[in-house]
Amino acid sequence: MLGDKKDLLGLKDLTADDIRYILGQAETMKHILMQNNKKTPHLRGKSVVTLFYENSTRTRLSFELAGKYLSADTANITASGSSVAKGENLLDTARTIDRMGANVIVMRHSSSGAPHLVAQNVKASVINAGDGMNEHPTQALLDMFTILEKKGQIEGLKVAIVGDVLHSRVARSNIYGLTKLGARVSVGGPATLMPKGMETMGVDVCSSVQEAILDADVVMGLRIQLERQKAGLFPTLREYSRFFGIDQRRLEYAKPDALILHPGPVNRGVEFTTGVTDHERSFIDEQVTNGVAVRMALLYIFTGGVKNPRQVKED
Ligand code: CP
Repeated sequence: MLGDKKDLLGLKDLTADDIRYILGQAETMKHILMQNNKKTPHLRGKSVVTLFYENSTRTRLSFELAGKYLSADTANITASGSSVAKGENLLDTARTIDRMGANVIVMRHSSSGAPHLVAQNVKASVINAGDGMNEHPTQALLDMFTILEKKGQIEGLKVAIVGDVLHSRVARSNIYGLTKLGARVSVGGPATLMPKGMETMGVDVCSSVQEAILDADVVMGLRIQLERQKAGLFPTLREYSRFFGIDQRRLEYAKPDALILHPGPVNRGVEFTTGVTDHERSFIDEQVTNGVAVRMALLYIFTGGVKNPRQVKED
């Protein structure tokens, strides 16, 4: 599976079988994660470095814990606390980490394509932890894992993705992944936050949030990305919440057993009301747990836990 891929840069590049394979490995890792003693020797002797040019709580910490649970040596670098702040460029930084023997570099960057550039210039496997407005593949994998766990299948489900689609790498990765696995995806939100040509990605572009949510099996909210809003694409957060936020009334358009998901962090009272965030059908906390299992699986796969010819050859 995964061919001879050295890196995980996006779900656009993966086949449906690749995705199913990763989700299967994640299921095994979830069993390990749920044990009292989570420490296993899967990654003994391997090292994982997280290189984050943007802030993160979930992704960075879950990769670090995933590595530790599997006995890897883990280290973290942020732009503000490293020589990046002295002006060192991205490739020099990445090559420095590579020359210290990292097996995996997990990186987040504000520029789309930054992990692709690094991947071409280092021996380590590169895992994209979010690049600009392009992709956030590990988030989409944990979202799909959560759907599979709760619904038993993805094929044939309707998944509504609602909110700031324009700036959302989470939406993009989920659209690639979910459509490959046979889900029907609808998107809804302010017209100013909807990229042009979304239809070409195989999704239903809806004129209202209600239409997007109608009869959905899964309602996925997206964070309003205030840090990426250069122009005023909607008047105020209050107005956004009034016209596009999901409250109990709008949630009722979905199927009665619809899952409520959000990648986090949630802007409470904006994308979802607190009642929806904390709803009995909200699995936002479970997504966080599943994020560790999925990242354990990815570290295992990309350090040669399964066939990864380049690293196996060099071992
Ligand atoms: N969902 C997500 O990527 O969260 P963090 O920014 O906290 O990593």
